Formats: sequence, C-alpha cells, structure tokens
Amino acid sequence: MPFRLPDLPFAADALAPHMSAETLEFHHGKHHKAYVEKTNALVAEKGLEGAPLSAVIRTAAQRGEKGLFNNSGQLWNHSFFWQCLAPAGGPRPTGRLAALIEEGFGSTDTMLEQFKAEAVNHFASGWAWLILDGGALKIISLHDGDTPVAHEGMQPLLTLDVWEHAYYIDYRNARPRFVDAVVDNLINWDFVAQNLDGNGVSRADQQG
Ligand SMILES: [Fe+2]
Repeated sequence: MPFRLPDLPFAADALAPHMSAETLEFHHGKHHKAYVEKTNALVAEKGLEGAPLSAVIRTAAQRGEKGLFNNSGQLWNHSFFWQCLAPAGGPRPTGRLAALIEEGFGSTDTMLEQFKAEAVNHFASGWAWLILDGGALKIISLHDGDTPVAHEGMQPLLTLDVWEHAYYIDYRNARPRFVDAVVDNLINWDFVAQNLDGNGVSRADQQG
C-alpha cells in the first residue's frame, strides 16, 4: 500500500494566529503531500514497496540514495511535527520531562532559549530537534530531510520545521518571529513527554 498523507491532529484554523489556516493548507496540503507522492514514486522505482516508512528511510541512508532519503525523511519529519503542535494555552512541561529538562538545562526557559537559538541559527533548510540520547536531553539540528530515524541512539521528542515553507506566508522571511511564536505558544508538551518512552519514531511511522 502506498504511503498516505496523515490528517492534521487539529482543525486547520486551530493554531491561528501563530500559524494560520493558509499556512497549513500549503504546508500540509501541498508541501507534505508532495513528499508523500515523491516517496511513493521512488519506493516503487526502487522496489521497496511494503516496507515501513522508517525502514525506507534507513535503507535510503545506508545506500546513499539522497532523493529517496530526503523525501521519505521529510514525510516522517512532517508527520511527527504536526503532533508536536497544539492550540495555544496548553500545559508546560511537568513530571519526568520537567525533571530531565532541569537536569540538562537548569530550567525550562533556558532550554527553550537554546532550542530557539538552534532553530534560528540553523543554516538554510532543516529541523531543530529536542532528542533523548543516552538518557540525556540534547538540542540539535539536522539539514534538509535528515531525521533522527536515520541516527542510531537518537530518540526524537520534539521538532520544529525551519524550512522557509514553514513561515513564508505568516512571517515572510522572519524566521525568528516564527520560532518565537511557535515555541512560546504551540508546543504539545504532552506529546513531547509521551516520547520519553523511546517510541517517538513509531508515532510518525506507517506501513508501506
Ligand atoms: Fe515543512
């Protein structure tokens, strides 16, 4: 079965004004959809039908197939990203997540400042990540369609898309304003906390 475009886990206008329905119409309805279609075409071309998305990503990485790697990585990354977002006004980190943040960064505010800096300063297209690696939280960024799925030991907790297509409608070229608005208002900390179980990869995976 070909890979499909997952539905958004919220209404298209639920994140406004920080992320508009028009942005989601383009970002989910056109950009994410295009990655699904390109991945399906390349999977068929390379005889990888039937493999789960995570396996396609790892195979493409091992074989050095850049087109398939970036498109399948983008398919998974976006499927994970939408789940990292929720309407404004949700809870801040609590429990084990708050304890790990304090241990790693001193405070939630300090961690968020570092996450924002990583997102703003990432050169060109890519993604900022909060990951669990060897039992500790780390903030990193990866280029283009690269993804923790392809890196042994990286357990994804939270991501932010910093490709220009994520913010050009609402913020023009102002990536820092986009990053502030999303990080301060739209993070689904319940989802981030759920991913401490190490099963984050499976939450955006799908059967081929
Ligand atoms: Fe994107």
